Amino acid sequence: MRAKKVVITEKGTIDSITVQEFDIPEVKENEVLIKVTYAGLGYGDIMARKLNIPGLPKVPFTPGSDVTGIVESVGTNVTNVKPGESVAALLMPDYGGQSEFVLTSSENIFKIPDNIPLDKAACLPINYLTAYGIYKNYLQNELNFKRVLYHGGSGGVGSAFIQIAVSKGMKVLTTASNKNHEFLTALGAEPIDYNSSDFSEYVKSRYSFVDAVIDPIAGDYTKRSLKILRDGGKYIGIGFQTIKNRYGMIRIMLSFLFRKMFTSKKEMYIYMLNSTVKSELNSNLNELFNMYKNGEIDPVISAVYTLDNVKSVHEKLESGDRKGKILIKLN
Ligand SMILES: NC(=O)c1ccc[n+]([C@@H]2O[C@H](COP(=O)([O-])OP(=O)(O)OC[C@H]3O[C@@H](n4cnc5c(N)ncnc54)[C@H](OP(=O)(O)O)[C@@H]3O)[C@@H](O)[C@H]2O)c1
Repeated sequence: MRAKKVVITEKGTIDSITVQEFDIPEVKENEVLIKVTYAGLGYGDIMARKLNIPGLPKVPFTPGSDVTGIVESVGTNVTNVKPGESVAALLMPDYGGQSEFVLTSSENIFKIPDNIPLDKAACLPINYLTAYGIYKNYLQNELNFKRVLYHGGSGGVGSAFIQIAVSKGMKVLTTASNKNHEFLTALGAEPIDYNSSDFSEYVKSRYSFVDAVIDPIAGDYTKRSLKILRDGGKYIGIGFQTIKNRYGMIRIMLSFLFRKMFTSKKEMYIYMLNSTVKSELNSNLNELFNMYKNGEIDPVISAVYTLDNVKSVHEKLESGDRKGKILIKLN
């Protein structure tokens, strides 16, 4: 049987995005074949399409690091799910989600409890697991951390982080374009327009400092963030949105290590979801499912697209025209 998937054929522009047919593979003993309902599209996919750097896939590849759908078939050793069940999958670091059928190891599969819609569940594997991982690893036990700054709050991870942190009683400041401020205020955050003002001056003049900074941007943002981080506070780097090539990445890593060595009164970390052990991901995801059922979180879906308009989704994401998670509906 044949199915369709997105394939990026060259690193670079939107023209390198194609939709191709493939033969649906047979499962091997530890694998699960999912008939995909929703696949996520995030900033990681844009970086994977544009950049040729370590840790990102080589062409040709299918983007998409998280999906939800229905189990089509399972290998003989698979015991955690059965055909017909609703599941989510986290496909890090392999990508491959934007496809009508996804074959992956049973280790990457999470059962979705009854009564959780597949579109809402599709927002959890990357965005909420990352946001919740940051909260649990660096903030949960810091009872005197009251005020945090998240850079770029209007996206998938940002909106997830704001919901979690606000539900835990924290004040969240967030940098964002002006057009997203109303959305962020409704989520309970205080937005700062990074285009018309320097966020560090804004924070300094109103609050003097913050207790923690979560930074997916890096570069100059790291330096300015450290200026407004109080002694004993935590800087948590989660991405490098400013880098343009592998030299840029090396420069940012070296500058991070240099600052970490010489910034003794502030703690500096890099958090990567794909280095989290599977058992922790599983228990965190179950906690997130419960938080959704209790109304503590409610993933924001920016828009749902199909394979026919996948190029325009990349355009939209790159132009910053999104609030929350972008999904592609496959089946
Ligand atoms: N560490 C991990 O394990 C992990 C996991 C997943 C994702 N990530 C990283 O997290 C980041 C966000 O991913 P995502 O999928 O949530 O992306 P997304 O939905 O595309 O959101 C990106 C956000 O960046 C904002 N932005 C762009 N330039 C900015 C700037 N100069 N200052 C402040 N904000 C800026 C945009 O805000 P406006 O439109 O308001 O300008 C937008 O909200 C990426 O860097 C990704 O690589 C890390």
